[in-house]
Amino acid sequence: KIKGFIFDLDGVITLTSKYHSRAWRELADELGVPWTATLAERLKGISRMDSLEMILDAGGKTNGYSDADKERLAAKKNSNYLACLEQMTDADILPGITDFLEELMAHDYKISLASASKNSPKVLEKLNLAKYFANIVDPAKLSKGKPDPEIFLRAAEQLSLKPDACIGIEDASAGIQAINAAGELSIGIGDAETLREAAIHFTATKELTLAAIKRAMQSIA
Ligand code: BG6
Ligand code: MG
Repeated sequence: KIKGFIFDLDGVITLTSKYHSRAWRELADELGVPWTATLAERLKGISRMDSLEMILDAGGKTNGYSDADKERLAAKKNSNYLACLEQMTDADILPGITDFLEELMAHDYKISLASASKNSPKVLEKLNLAKYFANIVDPAKLSKGKPDPEIFLRAAEQLSLKPDACIGIEDASAGIQAINAAGELSIGIGDAETLREAAIHFTATKELTLAAIKRAMQSIA
């Protein structure tokens, strides 16, 4: 029986995924690393440092930078990202998300956030959504990022739930892999092909309702 819902943030609750992408693209341009749709998709859900490594790797530049250089580049990306957040308000919550969170609260589901982003508490505050979350996993305290299951296992544990009592909601392939490896039920939101490993798929957040999820669960049971 499902008792908890674990949300990704960027790309599920709000389109900060676009801001992350824009800020990484700016850095890639500066480093002379070609920006492709594949690279953009692979970066989704990946921690700040792992993202930088992925970009350097894509450009064949893994050896040219010291740890201090990498810290500086990651900090630069983050300050660009933070500048994008300035104009954000609760109008930037994706369609259907607030209603869905309300529905979950009304039915006593426990709700947690499993975002790789160290900026996620700030984003939830800006969107006025912090009140719905019983817990936010601190990505700084994890040893491995998505697609490793650690963040989703930690989320279940912090809700005092077994993984199989939890549903994880993600927009990124790395996130779906993490949910599946944690033994939780995965819901992918977005492109069906990108999210083909998701147990349940919806095209957009406005389709997220308990009724739709129950129907989808019956059809895969
Ligand atoms: C994930 C995003 O949620 O967080 C990634 O999907 C981002 O794009 C990652 O790189 C880390 O975020 P931050 O805010 O800690 O740099
Ligand atoms: Mg995401």
